[in-house]
Amino acid sequence: MAIDKNELRRVMGHFATGVTIVTTRASSGKFHGLTANALTSVSLVPPLLLLCVDKKAESYPCFAESRLFTVNVLSDSQEELSRRFAVSGGEKFERVAYRLGANGVPILDDALAHLECRVVDAHEAGDHTIYIGEIESAETREGRPLLFYRGGYRSLGD
Ligand SMILES: Cc1cc2nc3c(=O)[nH]c(=O)nc-3n(C[C@H](O)[C@H](O)[C@H](O)COP(=O)(O)O)c2cc1C
Repeated sequence: MAIDKNELRRVMGHFATGVTIVTTRASSGKFHGLTANALTSVSLVPPLLLLCVDKKAESYPCFAESRLFTVNVLSDSQEELSRRFAVSGGEKFERVAYRLGANGVPILDDALAHLECRVVDAHEAGDHTIYIGEIESAETREGRPLLFYRGGYRSLGD
């Protein structure tokens, strides 16, 4: 029997992760972004990561269209931002501090790290699409990570 989706979410919640906001940009120029933790490093040479995007997300079409995205790894001062980008639609970037990367996609201020990616492959996987991104540029800054565990935000030492 297939596992119930709420039960699966509860069980997977025991796998502690960092939290990111993945930003992208539509051809109209409008920025999109969503909170995401279904993210994994895939390959060092070439440098690849994967990101799973829900087909129901408002930003979903933008990934296929622009084929560009930037992963912003959040610091523990960015929980409010994470909550904002985990709600569909709206003007998410209003009053958010960011600059544009070389690819024209927003890089959020105060993120612990960012990775600018170009989509090189995509795989259908149930209600999500797995995007493989080739990392074109990456940078870090000092700080403490925002974590997600058992459905709640945490920081190191909690
Ligand atoms: C901690 C956390 C992790 C999440 N990880 C993902 C993810 O990896 N992929 C995804 O598609 N949605 C993920 N979500 C849900 C999206 O952030 C949420 O559906 C968001 O509303 C999508 O925004 P949009 O509809 O404006 O594109 C996550 C939410 C939270 C709170």
